[in-house]
Amino acid sequence: MTQATRRAAELRQLIGHYDYQYYVLDDPTVGDAEYDRLMVELRALEAQHPDLQTPDSPTQRVSGNVAAGFAEVRHGVPMLSLDNAFDDEGIVNFDRRVRERLGRIDDEIAYVAEPKLDGLAVSLTYRHGRLAVGATRGDGATGEDITANLKTIGAVPLQLRGSAPDEVEVRGEVFMPYKAFEALNAAQVAAGERTYANPRNAAAGSLRQLDARITQSRRLDVYFYAVGRFDGGERADGQTALLKLLASWGLRTNPETRQVLGVQGCLDFYHALGARRASLRYQIDGVVYKVDARSDQEKLGFVSRAPRWAIAHKFPADEAQTVLNDIEFQVGRTGVLTPVARLEPVQVAGVTVSNATLHNMDEVTRKDVHIGDTVIVRRAGDVIPEIVRVLPERRPAGARAPVMPETCPVCGSKVVRVEGESAARCSGAFTCPAQRKEALRHFASRRSLDIEGLGDKLIDQLVEQDIVRMPSDIYELDQPKLLGLDRMGEKSAVKLLAAISRSRQTTLPRLLNGLGIPGVGESTARALAEHFGSLAGLQAASLDAIQAVPDIGPVVGASVANYFADARHQNELARLRALGVTWPEGEPAAAAREDALPLAGVTVVLTGTLDGITRDEAAEQLTTRGAKVSGSVSKKTSYVVAGAEPGSKLARAQELGVPVLDERGLRELLQRA
Ligand code: IVH
Repeated sequence: MTQATRRAAELRQLIGHYDYQYYVLDDPTVGDAEYDRLMVELRALEAQHPDLQTPDSPTQRVSGNVAAGFAEVRHGVPMLSLDNAFDDEGIVNFDRRVRERLGRIDDEIAYVAEPKLDGLAVSLTYRHGRLAVGATRGDGATGEDITANLKTIGAVPLQLRGSAPDEVEVRGEVFMPYKAFEALNAAQVAAGERTYANPRNAAAGSLRQLDARITQSRRLDVYFYAVGRFDGGERADGQTALLKLLASWGLRTNPETRQVLGVQGCLDFYHALGARRASLRYQIDGVVYKVDARSDQEKLGFVSRAPRWAIAHKFPADEAQTVLNDIEFQVGRTGVLTPVARLEPVQVAGVTVSNATLHNMDEVTRKDVHIGDTVIVRRAGDVIPEIVRVLPERRPAGARAPVMPETCPVCGSKVVRVEGESAARCSGAFTCPAQRKEALRHFASRRSLDIEGLGDKLIDQLVEQDIVRMPSDIYELDQPKLLGLDRMGEKSAVKLLAAISRSRQTTLPRLLNGLGIPGVGESTARALAEHFGSLAGLQAASLDAIQAVPDIGPVVGASVANYFADARHQNELARLRALGVTWPEGEPAAAAREDALPLAGVTVVLTGTLDGITRDEAAEQLTTRGAKVSGSVSKKTSYVVAGAEPGSKLARAQELGVPVLDERGLRELLQRA
């Protein structure tokens, strides 16, 4: 080892240590000047000997490169969500369910109570202690690779401390403290840019910057609270121990967190924190309670996408009273007419609200909303405001109940009520400008074809002037067509055309999502693309074949089959292709690869304690062989593997006639092929 190598390592270690004291312990022992001096020395050394520059060097917190986009990251262990409770009763019920399921009805359960941060869940994978990948939660199964952006957050260690495992994926919440939020909005105003509605949006916008230097300027913060994948180390025996372990690796955990006893402990914590909520330096929207003991967590397991051992107790959302002036009907992408309340503008949680959704006519009837009513509106976070209830005692004489129009307010086509659904639809389909606009918006949106700059106002004009009717028309736009539009100069036209051109290179999941097939969102689009590998494969697939795709039921399956059977859609797809829209396919598709694995198509549920192998290891071995490991037993489950002290899943398997394997059976299954 040369002297330069040794010094570089020493500097990295020192700076890492000072970062830890500053960001994690909030207790710096050196001044800024000394810290800067060390950074300057390290930068100089690395400039002289570029081979000394390691990815975890503190000089690499911000790269000078602007990324072209975010790659996808598949989470090894899905990132779940939480059930919500909105009042004390919801928590009393939660606690009772926990005690019942654990067979400890008379015990007080130890919970960990944590503030529910209003930010974004992220996942960070450390290999041999070094930060390897950072990702957003995304849809829980797949997120976006935002490693470069996460590295800019001072509280994210580039290197774990202590005895870190071979590989660990840690999870936490990135948020923007109020102070940083206010400073950011002030700067945005000064620069003539748009401001952010709340710290959560600001944090999201900042994390998804392609230029990490912008992320760095936004002063984001993070607290960690969970682990996903974990290899080569002792697992913590509960949430308290886990938080300790995370802290020992130099990861910040929320200092407000407490272990509490029983339901009363939970509620006391909630009310005490609620009273101090406004004085915290960051926004929280509730408290999360987690059953502390890991053995209990495992016994409780999961329901669909949320653990049974945790719940979010939300703080009441902000409400205000105002007058409902009118109800109008908006036509959505699939023609559904949604009643929208036009309100006398009112301040709710610091934002002026003048519209609220009423969802559908059943809800209008159920809430007995009349035009002219005084109503309570609620706005929670960045969700669309809604009408909570009307104040019937304040209803003026002559107030009238709204009626669903018989013809579409936009195109005049007949409105049809769908049998068995509460929705009414405009029958104009693609001839209705409103449906056209929404379909095009969806096609151009970030998670579909991602055409930057093709925003709402532009789409309105393009549809109103009949320049664009279908997505494929977008790819026939040229300067002469664009220059006739409002506020469209040559420069913006060139920019837009370039963005359109870039979007031609897309992916099959994006395209499928963008088509707006009823019932097909991002994750279904991905499932279809993965399964069939190519558009031709999907177009040729029978209804049965489509329904064989995991997670696709009869309704969505039929919708997909109908879509591709329609000649108009076939023409549109052919036209998109002819106009240069392409995506990778043909190479061994994920579906084909998985089909080749010995346990492809097999779904397994694990329950109880196994002897020679942990449940995580078993799950891992199963999935690498192509099996799907699920948390709940259904008719589609191929096998339930039951260890010692199996839970209700075993009973459920017997009820449904699902074959049950013991540990030996599991080993045999793993040795298949
Ligand atoms: S635990 C299975 N703990 O809330 C455990 N989540 O509604 C799932 N969140 O996606 C998460 N603070 O973004 C957990 N102390 C906390 C949290 C927290 C905020 C967010 C997180 C999650 C969402 C679920």
